[in-house]
Amino acid sequence: MSGYKTSKINNRRYLGNKYKLLPFIVDVVEKECRNIKVIADIFAGTGAVSSAFDKSKVIITNDLMYSNYICNYAWFGAENYEPQKIIDLVIKYNSLGSCRDNYMTRNFANTYFSKKDCSKIGYIRNDIEQLFKKKQINARERAILITSLLYAMDKIAQTCGHYDAYRKGCNYENELELYVPLAPVDNNPQNKCFNTDANLLVREIEADLVYIDPPYNSRQYCDAYHLLENVARWEKPEVHGVAKKMDRSKLKSEYCTNKATDAFADLISNIKAKYIMLSYNNMSQKGNDRSNAKISDEDILRILRGKGKVKVFSQQYKAFTTGKSDIADNEERLFLCECSGGVE
Ligand SMILES: C[S@@+](CC[C@H](N)C(=O)[O-])C[C@H]1O[C@@H](n2cnc3c(N)ncnc32)[C@H](O)[C@@H]1O
Repeated sequence: MSGYKTSKINNRRYLGNKYKLLPFIVDVVEKECRNIKVIADIFAGTGAVSSAFDKSKVIITNDLMYSNYICNYAWFGAENYEPQKIIDLVIKYNSLGSCRDNYMTRNFANTYFSKKDCSKIGYIRNDIEQLFKKKQINARERAILITSLLYAMDKIAQTCGHYDAYRKGCNYENELELYVPLAPVDNNPQNKCFNTDANLLVREIEADLVYIDPPYNSRQYCDAYHLLENVARWEKPEVHGVAKKMDRSKLKSEYCTNKATDAFADLISNIKAKYIMLSYNNMSQKGNDRSNAKISDEDILRILRGKGKVKVFSQQYKAFTTGKSDIADNEERLFLCECSGGVE
């Protein structure tokens, strides 16, 4: 018995994550793109797509949400870390009983988590911050520990995967258990992780391949994952309403609004790359209003063709609806644009 369990990048739930599509994405990159050394995954979410490429490639990740930035830094960060430190702390955290009242018990006891688990989450998150302030762990170790905590919360939260509501009156069968994330110790030293708006970032970076996977519809990720974002940031804000959400006004994405097409046009015009690959499904005229895609195929093609030569690849894929509208012919598409006058 080693005394602890381990987790991999895909051991979490995340709307629209592309883990199951990796063979399809990698196949298109291998067959269609030449000389790819630097890949920028600028709406990285869980980082699943970045994880499909070997260490010879430089990986640039970015996401508007700090919680995703932290997970991306844990998995892809160039900074060294000591795995044994993580193991020792995970074992220590898993041996905790109930802890003193804290921000988590005061705001979330017996909602998404039991009071006891809230007390542990609050204690552990505080402890990680203290260790970092005292320089007993570095930024990568801090990110790996927070990632471990976020994945553990996701495993036991009384939700259907996102935090719009919790199941009332449940009996909280599973207790919080942290796993040791199997974060590589030999990432490419030139990897970089960002936490900004993709439209701003593309003005600052260059890559051989820029992979774009924006939200498709009006569901804001900061609404669905407010609690993970809250714990990752640990600014202890006031929370409101039945779902106990913090203020998210600075985290809203234009890609979930009627400004999506303009934002996409601005993004594409500012990208400096040999290739641009876009994931976007074909829900624009199907499903219910909330799951309707915000950018039409005509606009996608018009905007990408302004940048270079475009090819479209598709594969049947299950839609992430709530089950009421079962759409049979949903396909996940990859739009590949070979940019004219790309980066040399
Ligand atoms: C469809 S998900 C990406 C899923 C990801 N490819 C994966 O496999 O996990 C879209 C992501 O874009 C992020 N996002 C939304 N608007 C953004 C923006 N303007 N700039 C950067 N990231 C943004 C969201 O936080 C979300 O994580």
